Amino acid sequence: MSTDKASGTATLNIPGKDPVDLPVYDGSVGPSVIDIRKLYANSGMFTFDPGFTSTASCESAITYIDGDAGTLNYRGYTIDELAEKSNYMEVCYLLLNGELPTKAQYDEFVKNVTYHTMVHEQLANFFHGFRRDAHPMAVMVGVVGALSAFYHDSLDISDPHQRMVASFRLIAKMPTIAAMAYKYSIGQPFVYPRNDLSYSENFLHMTFSVPAEEYNPDPVIVRAMDRIFTLHADHEQNASTSTVRLAGSSGANPFACIAAGIACLWGPSHGGANEAALAMLDEIGSVDRIEEYLARAKDKNDPFRLMGFGHRVYKNRDPRATVMQKTCHEVLDALDMHDDPVFKLAMKLEKIALEDEYFVERKLYPNVDFYSGIILRAIGFPTSMFTVLFSLARTVGWVAHWNEMISDPTQRIGRPRQLYTGPTARPFVPMDQRG
Ligand code: CMC
Repeated sequence: MSTDKASGTATLNIPGKDPVDLPVYDGSVGPSVIDIRKLYANSGMFTFDPGFTSTASCESAITYIDGDAGTLNYRGYTIDELAEKSNYMEVCYLLLNGELPTKAQYDEFVKNVTYHTMVHEQLANFFHGFRRDAHPMAVMVGVVGALSAFYHDSLDISDPHQRMVASFRLIAKMPTIAAMAYKYSIGQPFVYPRNDLSYSENFLHMTFSVPAEEYNPDPVIVRAMDRIFTLHADHEQNASTSTVRLAGSSGANPFACIAAGIACLWGPSHGGANEAALAMLDEIGSVDRIEEYLARAKDKNDPFRLMGFGHRVYKNRDPRATVMQKTCHEVLDALDMHDDPVFKLAMKLEKIALEDEYFVERKLYPNVDFYSGIILRAIGFPTSMFTVLFSLARTVGWVAHWNEMISDPTQRIGRPRQLYTGPTARPFVPMDQRG
């Protein structure tokens, strides 16, 4: 581990106090860190970093992002290569185990996932408790959390075997639950998984097939679905992954932790952005209104932001957006929709924004969500399902981080501190004496 040996020392000079020496650790790549764990004990002070812009919350060996270069690597492999040459199941194995699988390991892994795709029959009752018009993310938060009430034999987080079984269950059952959420919302019967189909094909089958007729998706669509899952599989310590880690740090069970991750992902600044990006494109409506909306995005008195643009970490093009744009072309071609007006509008908006001084200066580039909504809608998903698909794909990343955290012997419960600016201690005033 990199924190076994300090590569140097940083000295913090605080007026009125003795200098505090803090160890510096180097990662394999990327910024080094200053270890402040003893800062409070040695100085009586906290650090202040709301939004964690300069804080490494943990040590991790899973995913690396170089925001300035615009690169994303899973276990050292670039997202571009994985999207081109690999598939989602192989990427899941890689994220969980650290290495690409041999053929035998791959087959075994796929078999394990495939044979966990069914959900307890009683789980269907949960869906019937929701209103038909419930947002599918509300359903996901509830139903995934409820898995802990069904699978008691994979709740002991101190047992590596139980952790592994829980990991398989989560990765395998998410597509089944996501498809059930969709089917429930449109009043169609649930469709059972099929073991003869690939992970992505099976998900499309459970989502779009009906008992009355066969469903045979175009291989281009299956490949696009698989690639979308691959692109969303992990993204290091983002808000939802950090939520899963924080929830898991208390010893909460894996199903509850993933439900917490889903809840966090739902927000429009995180997983909800592709839904918001598509809604924005619909609202803009035509190329001649682009300037009006760009002006609004630049106006500090207007809360409107260009959805699908900008990223906390990428200050260059989001590498996932490049793959997504290519996939978008492939899908629209396969579906004979290359004249799709929303896609044309998106391309024009991207071009104009990339030449605009405001966006150039702030390094605001399209992110993964800018194009994913167009693809998903073309495949047939309603916008309310977009974040659900993101949560399905990200489950493996959450599980990999949760496992990494639990296996770390230095792991402790996450407990941030604060800069308190509220009232100091004061006596209680009885109600009849309050002015
Ligand atoms: N449209 C207009 N202005 C923007 C935008 C935008 N989409 N994004 C950032 N800015 C401006 C922002 O107003 C600020 O300007 P100034 O320096 O003049 O105050 C500057 O750019 C820096 O932005 P910030 O808000 O400090 O950046 P952040 O790191 O806090 O926010 C973000 C990152 C993704 C929340 C933000 O860019 C945003 O709201 N984008 C739109 C939502 C979106 O597409 N989210 C998906 C993120 S990718 C999916 C994922 O990985 O989860």
